[in-house]
Amino acid sequence: MVVTGAGGGIGRDFALAMAAAGASVLVNDIGTSVKGEGRDTGPAQKVVDEIRAAGGRAVANTDSVAEWESANRIIASALDSFQGLDVVVNNAGILRDRFFFNLSPDDWRAVIDVHLNGSFYVSRAAAPHFKSQSSGCYVHITSTSGLVGNLGQANYAAAKLGIVGLSKSIALDMAKYNVRSNCISPFAWSRMIGSIPTETDEQKARVEKLKSMETAKIAPLAVFLASDKAKDVTGQIFAVRANEIFLMSQSRPLRSVHRAEGWTPETISSHAIPALREHFYPLHRSQDVFSWDPL
Ligand code: NAI
Repeated sequence: MVVTGAGGGIGRDFALAMAAAGASVLVNDIGTSVKGEGRDTGPAQKVVDEIRAAGGRAVANTDSVAEWESANRIIASALDSFQGLDVVVNNAGILRDRFFFNLSPDDWRAVIDVHLNGSFYVSRAAAPHFKSQSSGCYVHITSTSGLVGNLGQANYAAAKLGIVGLSKSIALDMAKYNVRSNCISPFAWSRMIGSIPTETDEQKARVEKLKSMETAKIAPLAVFLASDKAKDVTGQIFAVRANEIFLMSQSRPLRSVHRAEGWTPETISSHAIPALREHFYPLHRSQDVFSWDPL
C-alpha cells in the first residue's frame, strides 16, 4: 500500500498501523515544513526503519504528490517494490493560512497542489492498476475546515472539500470495478496544530486537552477501511477525534418552496426566504460544531 505524507504526524501512524496489520507499506514523504518549504529524505526513511525494526515490510519514497510525473513515480515504486497495490492513503498536506483578503495566488496554488491536485494525481496514477485487478481502496484525508469552516483557511478549506467531491466521484466511477473510496476527517495533535499559543492558564488547559487527540487514534479506522471487512463501505465521510468516531452528513435538500407561477425577487423576499430562513446554517466554525472536549 501507499501512504503519502507518512514521514510524521497522522501519516506515520497510518504507516505503522498498516504495517503492523501485515501490509507492505510505501512510506512517501518529501520531508518538508508545515508550509511546504524545504525537503528532507530523513523522515520517510526513519519511518521505514521503525517498521522494519518491528518486523514489517516497508520502502521509502520521497517523490512529491503535487506533480503528475512524480505522483506516478510513487505508484510505480510501490508496484515495483511489492508486485502489487491494494490501498492508497492520500494524507500528505501543508498549510498556508492567511485571511482571504491577504491570500496570495502562490499560497492558494501551493495548498491546492498538495491536497487536491496531489490526491487526484496519486489516485489517478493507481486507478488503471485497481481497475485491471478489479479491486482497490482509497482513503483520503479531508478536514472540518472544509466540511464545516474555519478562519483564515480559504485555500485549505477549498482543497479539503474538493477532496470530498473527488472521493465520491471515484466511488461512483469505480464501483463496478470493486474499488472503494472514503474520506477521514481527523482531529489530531500534530505539528500542524502544535503552534497554538500557550501563554495564559486557559490556553495551557486547552492545549493539554488537545494533546489527548493522539495521531495514533486515527489509524484504526484507516486500517479497517483498507481491510476486507470494509468491502461494502464506500463513498462515506468519517471523522475521528480521540476516542470518538463520527459519520459526517452529505449535502441533501433541506426544505423547498414552490409557486406554480414561478418566482420574482419580491416573492422570493416575501415568501421563499421567510420559509427557508429557519433552516439557514449559522456561520459556524469547526470548533462551534465540535464544541465539547475530546473524549
Ligand atoms: P504533518 O505536517 O505532521 O504531516 C504532513 C506530512 O505531509 C509531512 O510529513 C510533510 O512532509 C508531508 N508532505 C507535505 N507536502 C508533501 C508532498 N508534496 N508530497 C509528499 N509529502 C508531503 O501534519 P498532520 O497533521 O499529520 O496532517 C496529515 C493530514 O491530515 C493532512 O492532509 C492534514 O491536512 C490532515 N488534517 C490534520 C488535522 C489535524 O488535526 N492534525 C485536521 C484535519 C486534517
